[in-house]
Amino acid sequence: MGNMLVGKGFGTAPAGMAPDAAGIDGAAAGGTGKVEISNVSIAFKGPGNKLVPALAPTDLILRPGEFAAFIGPSGCGKSTLMNAVAGFVVPTTGGIVVDGVEIRKPTPDIGVVFQNFALFPWFTAIANVEFPLKRFGLTRAQRRERAFAALEEVGLARHAEKYPGQLSGGMKQRVAIARTLVSNPALMLMDEPFGALDAQTKVTMHELLLRLWERRRQTVMFVTHDVNEALVLADVVYVMSAAPGRIIERIEVDSPRPRSAEHIDEGFVRRRAAIMKLLRNEPHAEED
Ligand SMILES: Nc1ncnc2c1ncn2[C@@H]1O[C@H](COP(=O)(O)OP(=O)(O)O)[C@@H](O)[C@H]1O
Ligand SMILES: [Mg+2]
Repeated sequence: MGNMLVGKGFGTAPAGMAPDAAGIDGAAAGGTGKVEISNVSIAFKGPGNKLVPALAPTDLILRPGEFAAFIGPSGCGKSTLMNAVAGFVVPTTGGIVVDGVEIRKPTPDIGVVFQNFALFPWFTAIANVEFPLKRFGLTRAQRRERAFAALEEVGLARHAEKYPGQLSGGMKQRVAIARTLVSNPALMLMDEPFGALDAQTKVTMHELLLRLWERRRQTVMFVTHDVNEALVLADVVYVMSAAPGRIIERIEVDSPRPRSAEHIDEGFVRRRAAIMKLLRNEPHAEED
């Protein structure tokens, strides 16, 4: 566990857990982050109140600590699926259970980093990161300390007092990641978080994200339309069909870790070709 999360525990420790493994300090450490998606389909009201399917019935189980990438044509329901797991959208059929609890509304145990999940522009970087800690009943000094440690982890300690408007796109997403990690969620949802970043910044963000994840091993659901990104990051890549989306392929990525964008092995090339082929057969596939 990262040193930002080592400290005094608070809340009540479940039996058999060290005191500092409770509450905020324990989410990812307790071997949690199991996601069970059962028969989940989602339809939205279209013109004339007709229901338009966005996600076909989907069944999926993510093991605790698994890094899963989701890739598929634009409009196939990737964000809809993320929004349902986050509790922002209620499934039309089926249910989503995270660590034994059915998701019906947003919960702080699930962290969200979306491309356009904006920071509060009127808060400094550190105040943005502190914000989600308010629910934990920490003192102001404790919140500051944790938020600062989280910013340090994403390499932004020097910019703690800057406002989002003074930060680059990559730095803003670092703040967003710090804001999510600071409460140590067992599950992280990332919906094209680096989609707007330039190629070099993206590579840096991949390395940062992998470093953080290797330390914490929270479960990650990561949406991308970038095949390389999926293969560098994930343990498993789910390929989705065009709308209404369904999972058409599950590809295990067993390339050794730690990984880097520079190290491309034979398996990488083979899987890349397989995914590209699947996407090419789908209308409106994005392939960059
Ligand atoms: N809140 C909403 N209301 C109505 N339709 C929606 C809503 N959200 C998404 N959709 C529709 O659902 C489909 C899937 O969208 P989305 O999940 O955003 O796709 P993706 O993220 O894969 O590009 C699209 O046709 C989109 O227009
Ligand atoms: Mg989307």
